[in-house]
Amino acid sequence: MTRETWATRLGFILAAVGSAVGLGNIWRFPWQTAENGGSAFLVVYLGIVLLVGVPGLLGEFVIGRRAKKSPVGALRDLSGSKAWGVVGAFSVVTGISLLSFYSVVGGWIIRYLLESGAAVVGGSPAYFTNPGQYFGGVSAGVDAALYHLLFLGLTALIVFAGVRKGIELGTKIMMPAVLVLLAGLAAWAATQPNAAAGYAFFLRFDPSVITENFFAILGPAAGQALFTLSLGAGTMITYSSYLDEDRSLPFDGSAIAVLNTSVGVITGLVVFPLLFSQGVNPTETGTGPGALFVGLAGAFSQLPAGTLIATAFFAVVTLAALSSSISMLEIPVAFLVDEYGVSRKRAVTGMTALVAVTGTVCAFNPSIFGFVAGPLVNVLLTAGLAAFLLFVGWVMGREALEEFAAGAGEFSKSLGTPWLFAVGVVLPLFLVFTLLTHFGVDTTIGFWPTVGVAVVASAAAFLGLRQPNSVV
Ligand code: TRP
Repeated sequence: MTRETWATRLGFILAAVGSAVGLGNIWRFPWQTAENGGSAFLVVYLGIVLLVGVPGLLGEFVIGRRAKKSPVGALRDLSGSKAWGVVGAFSVVTGISLLSFYSVVGGWIIRYLLESGAAVVGGSPAYFTNPGQYFGGVSAGVDAALYHLLFLGLTALIVFAGVRKGIELGTKIMMPAVLVLLAGLAAWAATQPNAAAGYAFFLRFDPSVITENFFAILGPAAGQALFTLSLGAGTMITYSSYLDEDRSLPFDGSAIAVLNTSVGVITGLVVFPLLFSQGVNPTETGTGPGALFVGLAGAFSQLPAGTLIATAFFAVVTLAALSSSISMLEIPVAFLVDEYGVSRKRAVTGMTALVAVTGTVCAFNPSIFGFVAGPLVNVLLTAGLAAFLLFVGWVMGREALEEFAAGAGEFSKSLGTPWLFAVGVVLPLFLVFTLLTHFGVDTTIGFWPTVGVAVVASAAAFLGLRQPNSVV
């Protein structure tokens, strides 16, 4: 059986943007921004997206397109060692962990969508009366479990239909809808009273906040950057394994990062003005996973045509979430298809059944949910990306450079060598650092010396590799 590929040039970009744009931008990003000092967080996060995210994305692309396999087979075949296959197998665990909590949040969203949609016809959504209480009631327990199954079922249907007819077609419809609706909502939010206070909170650049809190912001900002670009789980390896050689990876990677970041920023331009127009200050009202639901639901209830706006908003979020969840399910599915020759349909059925169970556990137990959605995923993604990048730098080496250059323009090609040193040395060091902060290690003292060592080591490696006959 021949392996599927994307049908169109745009198909891959939209699928990857679809994976990247999701609850990470809409639910996690405003919450993390509010929790970590507003604009200061935004700046550090943007810096990490640019300096770590884009090169990291290209690292996953190079692995996937070179091997034309999902992570386990890709790492094993490219290295010729079973041990690397075991490293790749972590991506299957990561994919299942991600989907387990993500479908629970997706379930909340569908519930809010249906609740708002029904109220457009008449009445007002139940969550208008007491947003906090409503969220408390639906976020865990039987309700949460049932809606999680609904969201998971929709995810499974799309992946069931395959790479072209499911993922590609689905994202081709969903992504434009998300962009249009979101832009409309942002324009509308601008007309609300006190919107300016929301922009100020979100966008005002205050360097002193960054210098004072740099190390506190670093870990969460890095975690958010990886999460939002779908890095570290092998999603991007899997998606790029369906690519042909004629695409420029540097171009596609940059386009994906720019589109994803824009959606994140536009979401902020919707959420923050709305919150401030209703006098809700995100840093004061408490934070946590419920922030978006409670804060925004409260704001919607005060607004003219709030029910309609809420319906549009939750529709955007549902589409964005689905185009991401399919990329999580695709990781274990592609693994079963590539490694065991299982049919796609059986693989989807089996994996969906498994996540139905693990997700239900998350739906019933908020502390397990919190653990999986927070620390577990942060650690798995950070360690996963570090492993992929070390692989690119030290196992693939020249081969990675070739793949980086294939289909790329002259300018992009010239970036290959610096990129390879970044992904081989500097970025893994950085990722290990942020990993330590997740384990509560104080990295304040060691950071700058390590940056120094990384720079010197890269320079040495660079000079060492630049032999007369080098292609570099
Ligand atoms: N990036 C998606 C979001 O922001 C979530 C996501 C999809 C993801 N696939 C992933 C995150 C793989 C990490 C790894 O909602």
